[in-house]
Parts: sequence; C-alpha cells; structure tokens
Amino acid sequence: MNTLKDLQLLIEKGVTDLSFPLRPIELYEPITYILALGGKRLRPALLLMACDMFGGDARAAVPPALAIEVFHNFTLVHDDIMDNAPLRRGKATVHEKWNPNVAILSGDVMLVEAYKLIMQVDDRILRSVLEIFNNTAVGVCEGQQYDMNFEQQQRVEIADYLEMIRLKTAVLLGGALKIGALIGGASNQDADLLCQFGEQLGIAFQLQDDILDVYGDPDKFGKQVGGDIISNKKTFLLIKALELAADEQAAELQRWLDATSFDPAEKVAAVTAIYDRLEVRKHAERAMHTYTKQAFEALAQVSLTDDRKQYLRDFADGLMVREK
Ligand code: IPE
Ligand code: IPE
Ligand code: MG
Ligand code: MG
Ligand code: MG
Repeated sequence: MNTLKDLQLLIEKGVTDLSFPLRPIELYEPITYILALGGKRLRPALLLMACDMFGGDARAAVPPALAIEVFHNFTLVHDDIMDNAPLRRGKATVHEKWNPNVAILSGDVMLVEAYKLIMQVDDRILRSVLEIFNNTAVGVCEGQQYDMNFEQQQRVEIADYLEMIRLKTAVLLGGALKIGALIGGASNQDADLLCQFGEQLGIAFQLQDDILDVYGDPDKFGKQVGGDIISNKKTFLLIKALELAADEQAAELQRWLDATSFDPAEKVAAVTAIYDRLEVRKHAERAMHTYTKQAFEALAQVSLTDDRKQYLRDFADGLMVREK
C-alpha cells in the first residue's frame, strides 16, 4: 500500500508532465494556466486511493486519474463562464484573462484531452471505464443545467437541490472512485459501494462549497465570496432561508432576489445578514454531517480491513474542515 502523500506525488508529477502543442497558443495556454493553478486534486487522489486500497498498481491508474482532473478543470473553465466568476484559485478565470470564446474552445479541447488520457487504460477494462466516464460526464452536464434553471426559479425544494448537486458534483467523485476500484481489481459490489461513498461525500462536499461561498475567508477561498448570492443560486442556505424567513425579513429577502440592478457588495452583505439571523449555516452544516456519515457507512461495508480504508477516511474528514 502507498501513503496518500506517495499518491499525491504521482498526481503532481503526472500533471507537470502533461504537455500540449504550442500553437495556437490561445487554445493551449489556458489549459496549462488552469492546471498550474493547482487546486486540491481531490478527484485523482480518490481514484488512486480506490485503486491502491485493493492492491492495484497506482501507477497504472495515473492516466485515468489525470483524465478525471483534466475533465474537472474543463468543467470549471465552462462553469466560470456560466457563473460569471472573476476568480478561480486566487487568480483570474480563463474567460476574464483571455475571453469567453477562448474559454469555450480551450475547455472543449480539454474534454478531448481527457478522453485521450482515458484511452491509456488497459484494453481489457477500457470499455467499462469509458462507460462510467460517459455516464459521469452526462450527469455533470445535467446538474449544471438544473443549477442554471434554478437561478430563475422562485422556489426550489431541498430534494431538487440535493439531486442537482448530486449530478453536478457528486457523480464525478463517485465515478473517480469506481474507476479506481475497477482498475485495482475490486469486485463489482465493492466498486459500487465506493461509488456510493463518493456520491454521499460529494453531496457533503458541495454543501460545504456553498457554505464557503458565503462564509469563506476571501484570502484563502480563492473564489469570489458571495458569488452564489449575487446570482441567486438556489443553495441549501438560500432555500432554507426562504423556508424560515417570515414577515419583513421574507419581504427583504424577496426584494433582493427580484432586484435587477444593485450594488453586488451591498446585496451580499444584506443577504448574508439575513442568513446569519436565520442561522441557516447551522442547518447546512447539519445536512453536510448527515451526508458525510452516510458516506462512511457505505465505506464501512467495503470488504477490506479497516486499515486499508484509513487514508480515504482521513481524506474525507479533511475535506469537511477545508477553507478552500
Ligand atoms: C470546485 O471543485 C467545484 C465544485 C464541485 C465545488 P474543487 O473545490 O475540487 O476545486 P479545486 O480543483 O480544488 O480548485
Ligand atoms: C460547480 O459548482 C460544479 C461544476 C463545476 C461542475 P459551483 O459553481 O458551485 O463550483 P465553484 O464554486 O464555481 O467552484
Ligand atoms: Mg456553477
Ligand atoms: Mg461556479
Ligand atoms: Mg460553488
């Protein structure tokens, strides 16, 4: 077995060794730019741990792990256009630094590069890996579309929100773990359990992302704090606030949601103050803990000894107390 540190070194080396053509520079430079900005590399880490814990060769799993990371970065480049986000990992987003067309097209080619990396998987399991990857990618697109639809919708149920974040975020964590398990030689049952672990963890992870979007430290978060409030994202916090607010507070919240021209900083401050008064953060954190617990329950059923699962457990715990 490797340590998490060993696996993370494999990922960093793999990312550094990725090379793209030099021309046209506008197509390829954004890829190197966004990948070099780092990020937590959590999806490739999950994939390699899932392979390694079953006794598989983590080095053989590096290309699909990189594929998942390149795919993830592609979704971020396009997501930042959709969310009108100025900052990513503490630096200008691709569409801000270049322009939206560059961000669209370099994102497109990143998706193709992800497939090229997947192609390096052993022929014997390539078809199965591709099937997981394709289902995952379609799920992400569906989730992203719901996310945008919900911006325009007055009322969104918590259940619909949870399904939206399962698709846009959680299926990729589940898919990464499932691919890793498959390469590592896990049984189908164990691969499915790890996939469930990833989906439950992914829901908790997105809940935390939504909390950080409001309550993150701007110096550490790396993204624009309050971006979700500015664009009326139906996050757990907002849905809960709409549920709990009454009278003047409900009216004030609705005025901000309906406002078409406003000072962004003023809206963020006002809506955050409403969240504070209604204590919606507490509710979101409670939901986050419920999903983390469910994730651990799925992991507990995987037919390996506890010591083989420990790095995955530690890693998941670390995600829930992150600052970015
Ligand atoms: C950001 O993902 C998008 C979400 C699903 C919340 P990460 O928080 O994993 O982003 P990086 O890769 O670490 O920057
Ligand atoms: C991201 O959700 C999901 C995908 C990129 C598919 P967010 O829009 O909340 O992610 P951030 O906060 O911009 O990283
Ligand atoms: Mg988004
Ligand atoms: Mg976004
Ligand atoms: Mg977010």
